[in-house]
Amino acid sequence: MTKKPRKEFKKQISDLVRKHGTPLFVIRKSKLLDQLKRFHTLLPRVKPFYAVKANSHAFILKTFAAAGTGFDVASIEEMRMLIDLGVGPERMIYANTVKKPEALKFAVDNKIDLMTFDSEYELNKIAQCAPNARVLVRIKVPNVGSIVELSLKFGAEPMDAIPFLIKAIRLGLRPVGVSFHVGSQNTHVANYLDSLELVSIIFKDAHLKQIPLEILDIGGGFPIRYFDHEKDLFAMTASHINKELNRLFPRDVQVIAEPGRVLCGPAGVLIMKVVGKSIRNNKHWYYLDDGVYGSLSGIVYDHCKYQYRIFKRGITQITTLAGPTCDSFDIISTSEELPELDIGDIIYVENIGAYSWVTATNFNGIPPAQVVTVD
Ligand SMILES: Cc1ncc(COP(=O)(O)O)c(C=O)c1O
Repeated sequence: MTKKPRKEFKKQISDLVRKHGTPLFVIRKSKLLDQLKRFHTLLPRVKPFYAVKANSHAFILKTFAAAGTGFDVASIEEMRMLIDLGVGPERMIYANTVKKPEALKFAVDNKIDLMTFDSEYELNKIAQCAPNARVLVRIKVPNVGSIVELSLKFGAEPMDAIPFLIKAIRLGLRPVGVSFHVGSQNTHVANYLDSLELVSIIFKDAHLKQIPLEILDIGGGFPIRYFDHEKDLFAMTASHINKELNRLFPRDVQVIAEPGRVLCGPAGVLIMKVVGKSIRNNKHWYYLDDGVYGSLSGIVYDHCKYQYRIFKRGITQITTLAGPTCDSFDIISTSEELPELDIGDIIYVENIGAYSWVTATNFNGIPPAQVVTVD
């Protein structure tokens, strides 16, 4: 499924709709692989561990598993899905800093021993449930301007990193590195650069204290384009990161990352139909067959804004798009510039592969959009 030329794209969408109906969540394998290739090209020193939480659809996991990536897992279910696909434990990092004891035991039983932590309590829990674990301390870093702020909930104070690593040794664990997350859809390259500087100080201090750290985990947060007018910030971000990695960290430091959005976001297309129409307060309202409780749940959980596309041309007017449920909260956008639409018209969103379908609900008995995979 290629975007160009537009006529061909329109035909592909129309064919899919004819065959499967709507709403449809299309996952494009070629885009998944393009993004992975791009990641390797732009960040040659960094080994990606795909953040399964971004989209855990089996097709995506299978595609990345076959391509040899690592995976960032957050729960028993995520570990289980990968184990079922034959992904070995050495390809997983358990990077949810808050872990259930039974999930730690599951990790131990399946030889998954690399994990992050950000508090003394979690360290004690790991020592109890996963005594031989290799641990990375996750530190709190600037999340300035990131669409999803993560430092609010996660990350140890940087000055606690060394005491925590020393405590890890005392508890019989193996401290191996430091991790951070600059916040998701990070458009502020300085967040990465400041974080790398901060971690390099921790690495130097650890070296002085004879704690041999070997892994630097630069987390996720790599941005994608949602709107035509936006710049491609990933390439620019990556080039700055490369320079800083080479300046601050010796070659024997293994650098890994937990990219989610940047690997799966551009691979998703959501295709919907107008199923209802009205004029309210002199404004056209279109009710679509997917909404905020479905694959557009990223509007809420991911604080995301999407570009809504149609095939129709005409004089545009400010319109409201709403979802199919009986809740007034299910309003997608109150200010879209669109020509007049009719019931049955198609409306679609590109670059919606991450934090979207994966957080859809069954509210009002309306199931999440059907997933279709294409090359
Ligand atoms: C621990 C952790 N790693 C990685 C990710 C993936 O981040 P992104 O999708 O911004 O690359 C997240 C996202 O919330 C996360 O919490």
